[in-house]
Amino acid sequence: MSELVVTGLYKSFGTTVVLTGIDLTVPSGSLAAVLGPSGCGKTTLLRIVAGFERADGGRVELAGCTVSGPSVDVAPERRRIGIVPQEGALFPHLSVGRNVGYGLSRGTRRSSGRVAEVLDLVGLRGYAERMPHELSGGQQQRVAVARALAPRPSLILLDEPFSALDTGLRAEVRADVCTALRADGATAVLVTHDQEEAMSTADLVAVMRAGRMVQAASPRALYLGPADLGVASFVGDTVLLEGTLSGGRALTALGSLAVRDPVPAGGAVRVVLRPEQLVLSANGDGVPARVREQVFFGHDALVHLELGDGALVTARSLDCAWALPGLDVRLRVRGEVTCFTR
Ligand SMILES: Nc1ncnc2c1ncn2[C@@H]1O[C@H](COP(=O)(O)OP(=O)(O)O)[C@@H](O)[C@H]1O
Ligand SMILES: [Mg+2]
Repeated sequence: MSELVVTGLYKSFGTTVVLTGIDLTVPSGSLAAVLGPSGCGKTTLLRIVAGFERADGGRVELAGCTVSGPSVDVAPERRRIGIVPQEGALFPHLSVGRNVGYGLSRGTRRSSGRVAEVLDLVGLRGYAERMPHELSGGQQQRVAVARALAPRPSLILLDEPFSALDTGLRAEVRADVCTALRADGATAVLVTHDQEEAMSTADLVAVMRAGRMVQAASPRALYLGPADLGVASFVGDTVLLEGTLSGGRALTALGSLAVRDPVPAGGAVRVVLRPEQLVLSANGDGVPARVREQVFFGHDALVHLELGDGALVTARSLDCAWALPGLDVRLRVRGEVTCFTR
């Protein structure tokens, strides 16, 4: 059992308040992403969990034991936490194998085969004798992950570990690293400002904004049921409409729409849906709209449209080569929408 439970963390540097009542629970064996813009306090949260920084209030529990609290401050090296920093984490004068074995006792290093096992997990079988400067940036980060995993820590913390890698390489390295973390049964917290990275890798995405935890949920629950407009637009593209609630449905320029729970009390609301929920047709059901522009991405396209009342909305579509600018089309909404009280 190595569940991480953070409750009510507060931290200020001088007069700068950085963390305000942060709660976060990461179940044993799962991968959580802490997602938020630069400067929102993600690294500070990780440093408190690791024991490099003391909180002003709140508690950190690991595997059922308090490691940070009002009268407790377990030293970082006694927390059994593995850390993967952004870049440059390897000892340049030690081989890959010795870097990975650094945190192991001499006996374990010799006898267990653990170094070879974790190198294999991160896709670097046979690299033990290489030196760090003989590796690409992506391979170096793989080694850093193998080194963090090797002593079987209670928890692995990764602070934007892929952000220095090129876009193409980044997706590949992070997919392999997440596979390795899962294969080893690690409990891990990945900090990132990249919503695609958080959504595509984590079991749980915890969204931070200005030192607060705004919402923590599975990627799917977060995308479908964002807690507020900020989360909605941070984790994906949105279509925003004005609406009025009536009988559990939202009346909008796109018609009467089914509202996802929880339905707010009646009155004026802001209605949020995703571009892929808009269905275009040449002359089927739906409200009239005129195509303004189409942006082609290969795998799909975004179609910008104007409704009868002048409102602008964007549809994502796989099959809309016919929807050329100036064309009058029909538009309907598939699925439920989310409403926020104005
Ligand atoms: N040691 C420190 N002293 C003073 N301010 C700090 C210190 N560490 C972080 N901060 C401030 O705390 C805020 C959050 O920083 P950080 O946790 O690094 O955010 P993130 O990792 O989300 O970019 C920033 O405004 C930063 O300037
Ligand atoms: Mg940071």
